[in-house]
Amino acid sequence: KERINEPVTKVLSFARDFYHHILEHTELGRPALDYLEQRQIEKETIEHFRLGYAPDNNLLAESLQQNNDFNTQSILESNIVSGTDSDLYDYFKDRLMIPITDDSGNIVGFGGRALHQQDIKEPRYLNSKQSDVFNKGNLLFNLSAAKQEISLVHEVILLEGYFDVISAWQAGVKNIVASMGTSFTKHQLGLLNKVANRVVLVYDGDDAGKAAIDKAIDNLNNQHNLEVLVAPIPGGLDPDEYIKKYGSDSFKKLVNKDRVSKYRFRLDYYQEGIDLKNEQELLKFIDRILNKFVDLKDDLVQKELYLKELAQISGISLLNLQNQFNQHVVK
Ligand code: GTP
Ligand code: MN
Ligand code: MN
Ligand code: MN
Ligand code: MN
Repeated sequence: KERINEPVTKVLSFARDFYHHILEHTELGRPALDYLEQRQIEKETIEHFRLGYAPDNNLLAESLQQNNDFNTQSILESNIVSGTDSDLYDYFKDRLMIPITDDSGNIVGFGGRALHQQDIKEPRYLNSKQSDVFNKGNLLFNLSAAKQEISLVHEVILLEGYFDVISAWQAGVKNIVASMGTSFTKHQLGLLNKVANRVVLVYDGDDAGKAAIDKAIDNLNNQHNLEVLVAPIPGGLDPDEYIKKYGSDSFKKLVNKDRVSKYRFRLDYYQEGIDLKNEQELLKFIDRILNKFVDLKDDLVQKELYLKELAQISGISLLNLQNQFNQHVVK
């Protein structure tokens, strides 16, 4: 378990307040405020997430150096500035700043979103550099803030991106965290397992999002006391886009009512893009599904429900599917 580096935390807190102040109270912050307005992010939401703006200069590095509370070592260790002792410059420039905390609420870094359609060499999101303090695989965005809401309903909704969390929060869905685009790690699983009994995966509705759900289900399967549900988003949208297009109530319905079991998700997902009339593809599909369904062996009702559907889809009898299923279980 990583320890908190107090001097670095202080630098990062200073940076968070600095960026937030620039956004809300200076002319420099205007482009970022316009950007947030265009994304329909409200003032209250900006305050809650303490969003900020990193201007296109070295004002933060200069302010930190002039401040006697900070020594150069902790300034550099914070990764919020780069360079050498004598020549420090800001790491984040012209980006909307999203503070990231660990599960106890200590600030550990930032996600910085580019405001403009930039050239390909500039990433859309620039995160704090990987370090002892900021380790993406050990973090879930918004976990510390959402903890109470999560333990109230014993359920956590797992999203992909920063703006999905920000929009969902604004829509009134608050038991939400994001994996920040990376594939789900054991450590993150442990963090969720401490506060929830159930995870609802609400990843982007594009192909990458669906593939990520499939992978996340495998990872979550190692945790038998966490129930896994999926709420697939139609039309290739991500949660933020879905909320913008259909509104908060539709999103709440999607998350709370349109959620399906991980088996249902896979039964639908594995059929996408294959031709079931092609014998080889059909056989592969059946094998793939039966493999993923082995943990249904003790759930006779769900097992019958999904195997019956598989029988219908494939034209193979339920009896033979059941026998084949049993062979997968033994394997
Ligand atoms: P918006 O365009 O702001 O709505 O972003 P998004 O969250 O919809 O982006 P996307 O679905 O492509 O990615 C999901 C998450 O992956 C983001 O929120 C980031 O956490 C992460 N991510 C996306 N692009 C990058 C990148 O260029 N660099 C890094 N480090 N992370 C990224
Ligand atoms: Mn404020
Ligand atoms: Mn995506
Ligand atoms: Mn997205
Ligand atoms: Mn998005």
